[in-house]
Amino acid sequence: MIKVKKVSFCLIMLLATISCHKQTQNLSESEVITKEPMVKLLESMTLEEKIGQMTQYNGFWDSTGPAPKDGDAKEKYDHLRSGRVGSMLNVSGVKEVRKLQEIAVNETRLGIPIIFGLDVIHGHKTLAPIPLAEVASWDLEAIEQSARMGAEEASARGINWTFAPMVDISRDARWGRVMEGAGEDPYLGSLVGQARVRGFQGTDLSKNNTIAATAKHFAGYGFAESGRDYNAADVGTVTLFNTILPPFKACVDENVATVMNAFNTLNGIPATGDEYLQRDILKGEWGFEGFIISDWGSGAEMIAHGFAKDLEHAAILAANAGSDMDMESYAFVKHLATAVDSGKVDMKHIDDSVLRILKIKEALGLFEDPYRYCDTEREKTIPYHKDHATLVRNMAKKSIVLLKNNEEILPLSKDQKNIVVIGDLAQEKTSPLGSWRIGSDDGTAISVLEGFEEKGVKYKYKSGPALISQPASFINEVKINSDDRSGFDAAVKAAKKADVVVMVLGEHGFQSGEGRSRTDLGFPGLQQELLEAVKAVNDQIVLVVMSGRPLVLTWAEENVPAIVQAWQLGTESGNAIADVLFGDYNPSGKLPMTFPRDVGQVPIYYNKLNTGRPGPSDLVFWSHYIDESNDPLYPFGYGLSYTEFKYTAMKAVATGKQVEVEVTVANVGERSGEEVVQLYIQDKVASVSRPIKELKGFQKIVLNAGESKVVRFTLDEEDLGFFNTRGEFVFESGEFAFMVGPNSTDLTTAIIELK
Ligand code: GLC
Repeated sequence: MIKVKKVSFCLIMLLATISCHKQTQNLSESEVITKEPMVKLLESMTLEEKIGQMTQYNGFWDSTGPAPKDGDAKEKYDHLRSGRVGSMLNVSGVKEVRKLQEIAVNETRLGIPIIFGLDVIHGHKTLAPIPLAEVASWDLEAIEQSARMGAEEASARGINWTFAPMVDISRDARWGRVMEGAGEDPYLGSLVGQARVRGFQGTDLSKNNTIAATAKHFAGYGFAESGRDYNAADVGTVTLFNTILPPFKACVDENVATVMNAFNTLNGIPATGDEYLQRDILKGEWGFEGFIISDWGSGAEMIAHGFAKDLEHAAILAANAGSDMDMESYAFVKHLATAVDSGKVDMKHIDDSVLRILKIKEALGLFEDPYRYCDTEREKTIPYHKDHATLVRNMAKKSIVLLKNNEEILPLSKDQKNIVVIGDLAQEKTSPLGSWRIGSDDGTAISVLEGFEEKGVKYKYKSGPALISQPASFINEVKINSDDRSGFDAAVKAAKKADVVVMVLGEHGFQSGEGRSRTDLGFPGLQQELLEAVKAVNDQIVLVVMSGRPLVLTWAEENVPAIVQAWQLGTESGNAIADVLFGDYNPSGKLPMTFPRDVGQVPIYYNKLNTGRPGPSDLVFWSHYIDESNDPLYPFGYGLSYTEFKYTAMKAVATGKQVEVEVTVANVGERSGEEVVQLYIQDKVASVSRPIKELKGFQKIVLNAGESKVVRFTLDEEDLGFFNTRGEFVFESGEFAFMVGPNSTDLTTAIIELK
């Protein structure tokens, strides 16, 4: 049986090549192109086999979504053997991948190889900082190399495809998935998305250390109402085209192999069934040639959305709307053949979807060698490679943001006497890995305590109360300890005698990510109470914040002399934090998302509209809160250094259709440091009200003490234009402000009239 199968696959490919060659003598150029091997293969497929390519099944163990009630391992194996499965997710390890690939190649009629997908979000075995933390480095080269490392490790374990980068712009820290993206700004989010696509896909997708990337979740997922995951997103055309779509378009321009659609409705239409989004914009206007994978079960979820009456209807809607592959809905595998036979789905849509999928498999080299990614030697040596530890430590250091450093309490001396470290998170070796670490192993993060020890720093540790009351996992709610006060008094007592108290507080790694929206952005559990109790006995506090999102740090800002945002920094977390706290690295991170004073301000973001009543006013009739400032606690682009930078001699000059902006930046401090010089614009008057400022350029520079540098930017109409209410890109002459500075607030401005 297997022998015959194997021959038939090779025979078809051979015939395809011969017939393709034979026919080239009397076919026009265009006809030759349409008769490529994948087209020939497509023509040889039955409808059932075609639908098989459009079906992706979860592996038989790990789940990253609600495991289907029906369907079990036996049915999946049967479908696998009958050529009704085109892809698997959550299968990793060369042995496991090869076992399933051999079934697909040897036991099915056509032997079409499977493409294996996995969430390689910020590393695989060795973990980089969570994506939002990486963006705080504003170091695109480092971000690309981080994705490259993830591709190296995942491909060594049989994976050909990652469901990343997530490029959902979001302004709402209540939404747990902000940890997975690039923050609130479309310009930065676009460049980061492209860097990650380059990192994953490299320059040759057919190499066994490059993997197909996925721009996700198309579209509007980050605008879930109230920050509640999977909730409806309602936005106008101007926000859709100027804020939400640009990072996806940027990834398409970077040749991203696939796009994943979103769970949410966008303006009332579930993304999986949205023909305008998927066919008109993505595949039509943008010319996207890869394929669209639905998110886990999102096809079937159109029933719950009240958009499909049953699974067959969902299959029809998804296929007609341009959704090419169905992840764990069972909609296509169960109902698409009937839909085609009844004429409800045109075969041309099926053929288009299948050809897109086959071409990505071909680009990956899977037809040439279905076992290309099953290299046991690479699997032994690549994951957890020591070079990767160095890479992620450097990435982590650059991701840390120094938020406050009064009295220059930081950096600490390694000989600092009588340091007391407090906080359960200081000993944590799993939480710093974050929530999207499906390929890695618990307990593999370097803790803060271990980071101190690696430097030979002496300290006393008191954990204080436990942060969680039960073991946490990817699919279950985290149980936060709010009543077991064990360790509380001992911690406060130890703090009383300390010269310096380092408090490591924040969220558990599984308190952000998918399905983890919060209404309260404060420290969970007993941590705030502990912080205030320690402050009452000792004000020499260095606060290290671990979180997957902006937290409300207002009390800390008013009461604690030094604050460091340490996100969830991955495998080398503790070493990177120690590098910064003890001055072996001068922090250079800048916030990719605004930090609110109060959750009541959310959504809060820098590139807001002015409104008709920007205020302030002595009367109440202006856009403000009566109980809180409009201003953030820490603005987008904010971050301090152990040295100081001065900006002078800023100017903007229009030359023809371009604008040259320059500024001199000097390091006037005592030590070298890196600075992210940021350029913002404002289109003062336009046919659409434009944001008071928009990031349009940045440069991360290194300056030694006393050194200065002239930093230059060149902008053209592409940078100065915007999409209007009809989704048309326009540049409108008039008055523009150009602003340069170290963050989105402390800016030097030049205004010029552009013709
Ligand atoms: C999840 C996520 C998506 C992920 C997919 C596969 O539900 O929404 O981002 O890639 O399922 O794990």
